[in-house]
Amino acid sequence: MIQQQLFDNIFQKQLEKTSVFTDRNIITPHYTPKSLPFRDRQIDEISQLLSTSLQGAKPNNLFIYGKVGTGKTVTVNNVLVQLQEFIVHNGSKVDFAYVNCRNHNTKYKAITKALAKFYPQEDFIGYSSAFVYEKLLAYAGGQDKQLILVLDEVDKVKDLDELIYALTRANDELEQGGIALIGISNNLFFKDKLDARTKSALLEREMVFPPYNASELKAILEERVKLAFKPNSVKDSAINLASALAAQESGDARAAVMLMLRAGEEADRNLINEVTDHHVSTAKSRVEEEVTLNMVETLPRQQQIVIYALSLMTVQGHGYDKLNGVREKGVFFSGDAYREYERIAKSMSEQSVSSRWFREYVNELETYGILVTTASGKGVRGTTTLIKLGFDARKLQKVLEKELMGV
Ligand SMILES: Nc1ncnc2c1ncn2[C@@H]1O[C@H](COP(=O)(O)OP(=O)(O)O)[C@@H](O)[C@H]1O
Ligand SMILES: [Mg+2]
Repeated sequence: MIQQQLFDNIFQKQLEKTSVFTDRNIITPHYTPKSLPFRDRQIDEISQLLSTSLQGAKPNNLFIYGKVGTGKTVTVNNVLVQLQEFIVHNGSKVDFAYVNCRNHNTKYKAITKALAKFYPQEDFIGYSSAFVYEKLLAYAGGQDKQLILVLDEVDKVKDLDELIYALTRANDELEQGGIALIGISNNLFFKDKLDARTKSALLEREMVFPPYNASELKAILEERVKLAFKPNSVKDSAINLASALAAQESGDARAAVMLMLRAGEEADRNLINEVTDHHVSTAKSRVEEEVTLNMVETLPRQQQIVIYALSLMTVQGHGYDKLNGVREKGVFFSGDAYREYERIAKSMSEQSVSSRWFREYVNELETYGILVTTASGKGVRGTTTLIKLGFDARKLQKVLEKELMGV
């Protein structure tokens, strides 16, 4: 009787839903895999370098760079976990701290973050920059410790030259103990922009993480799929497609993992118990959409207004009239787009930029793939630039209304 009554219950239905996952968490980029295929050489080199510290000497500083998703963060963390294990078992005057500089993006914040690891009981909020620096020195020098500081996404530090200078100078001030640095960057050109002194200090050793190719990504995914999905719930061809797509983009393992996660969700949503190529393709456009919309959210306000103007015009069905009188919807004269941009900026009490700057913005947005421009050809008087959005106007409109007006 009760069973009967629950037949239509929404929670009952939720619980009965089948899923392709056994542990969804394992196929997210937050999960740290135990083994890291194709990174043996890097793990070996980094651990060899750091083992100097176990002998009581300061290792060379190391700079690691490579594109996003090439396993830099996960590889260094793998080495740190093993170092921790070694220290716990064998005892050693070595300690380390991992700092993600995206979240701790000044010299002061980065050092304070490291101190939080070294002095877990204490709180350094509000102390002066000189005080936290001395405290770090005291930790190394007072106990003759070799410290290893990992500065991940180090390019995000605003006063990087000061940070690196302070941390390298520390070694001259210390009578015992030392501080070694591992800087990591996703930006391949970052090192060329460094101040000469910072460069020579940080780049005592350097290491490049190459992108993964399709067959490497496939092997990485196969490992994960075994752990995260139910047996036989992912077609081989789906894994092949996801690896090929991620390899094509930039050899990004994070993208490959995300693609499989979204593909699994797509299968679940459709109540299908096997992930196929179709789910991977659908997932790809979803992931791309997420990436584009996230990027739009981080653009400067003026560029957001430009996109917003184009989105509104597109949604409202505007376009330009060809000489033969036919209206081409969703394609605009640059001048019309500029006027709409000015109107919207004014309505938001924002200063609008000159039409020359507007064209600069349009060029920049074109390189991001948010819009496409062409020179007006036949059928239009004179020549002018035509602009068309390269992305769903309604979605852009929605995201930008939230960004620009908080609705
Ligand atoms: N060799 C590997 N084996 C297994 N998974 C990997 C490997 N390299 C990267 N990954 C996966 O890709 C994700 C992104 O790697 P990450 O270390 O964050 O890249 P990066 O720091 O270079 O941007 C990781 O969370 C991990 O899941
Ligand atoms: Mg990283």
